Amino acid sequence: MTPDVFGPARLGPVELRNRVVKAATFEGRTPAGQVTDDLVDYHLAVARGGVGLTTVAYLAVAPEGRTHAEQIVVGEHSLAGLGRLAEAIHETGAKVAGQVGHAGPVANGRSNRARALSASAMPSPLSMQMVHAATEADLARVTERYVAAARTLVRAGFDVLELHMAHSYLLSSFLAPGLNRRSDRWGGSLENRARLARQVARAVRDDIGEEAAITAKVSLDDGFRGGLRGHEALDFAGMLEADGTLDALQLSGGSSLMNPMYLFRGDAPRREFAAAMPLPVRLGMRVMGKRFLKEYPFREAYFLESALRFRDALTMPLMLLGGINRLDTMERAMAAGFEYVALARALLREPDLVDRLQSGRQDGGACIHCNRCMPTIYDGTRCPVIATT
Ligand SMILES: Cc1cc2nc3c(=O)[nH]c(=O)nc-3n(C[C@H](O)[C@H](O)[C@H](O)COP(=O)(O)O)c2cc1C
Repeated sequence: MTPDVFGPARLGPVELRNRVVKAATFEGRTPAGQVTDDLVDYHLAVARGGVGLTTVAYLAVAPEGRTHAEQIVVGEHSLAGLGRLAEAIHETGAKVAGQVGHAGPVANGRSNRARALSASAMPSPLSMQMVHAATEADLARVTERYVAAARTLVRAGFDVLELHMAHSYLLSSFLAPGLNRRSDRWGGSLENRARLARQVARAVRDDIGEEAAITAKVSLDDGFRGGLRGHEALDFAGMLEADGTLDALQLSGGSSLMNPMYLFRGDAPRREFAAAMPLPVRLGMRVMGKRFLKEYPFREAYFLESALRFRDALTMPLMLLGGINRLDTMERAMAAGFEYVALARALLREPDLVDRLQSGRQDGGACIHCNRCMPTIYDGTRCPVIATT
């Protein structure tokens, strides 16, 4: 029987009131790397607006794993704030996920004042510095840091831990053959490139057991030559399923480093993006903007076709993501066998969209995919269209 989008669902050990997930959108509301009232209010808006699960994005496992310095590093110093955030969300009846991540080559080493790490050394277009190849000791430390962060989030009351394995962040940089040129046990075959992501998922599960649900955001297609693509992306998901360490996969794509628009589709906000950048990057954006922010036409549920290949091949629960705005799309996703739908921009535009759809006041969202929300991550993520209407 096709599940009801608005009916309760079980994600691993966690009971959700419905199947709509607020996907991670970095909030830009933690200037001192601590939970703020503004961050709590941001999540309360979508939680009160009806989602089953809201995702706090993103929670770095180590200082060099932040995309830039104004991000929360999970640890004793951030525990109390994270606990306050989880408690506030729970009071609404929604559950809370923490996106647990290490930005790898997407980290701005200059802003972090810490060397950025990746599978292999490369120049960073974001910081104009070199990104360093992670050593064996780095990888052992990062794995331990994932476990410690997961444990801290569980202590803070988080229900779901979402491991970030996409978008060219650290785990994803190892998976991508073009970013991973290693000849040791972490490079070469897919088995080797997948080792770090699988090791992290295993280590987190071994520590957390059933105290929280554990999911991963994975890539259907990185969207650039040298990325994780085609059958390899599917084979990797198959490895995760066989490992049995995760309760669900959220299916994304694209790369924050190499091809961000592949993950968003719709208008490329080049001018707004350049304006939000420091001067040297701004100048680079003027020259390279068209190559970095490519145009892909927006289509409702633009990942559906490739996600269906994953659905056919896998039995574990899957979350469909990417351009979901309409109730009939959500119902189509359920009918096609996806257990959850995840929405980002539609909920930035209308945090109470789930209520509106459920009560029949609307059958679709108002987001126009102008993507002008993208550069707002630097000073408080928001829908700029709301401010002008
Ligand atoms: C402003 C903004 C910030 C985002 N930040 C994150 C993030 O921190 N981590 C992440 O995995 N994805 C992030 N995303 C991507 C979304 O989670 C989602 O994958 C993408 O927007 C496609 O879903 P949508 O069509 O429902 O918006 C962000 C998206 C937007 C618009």
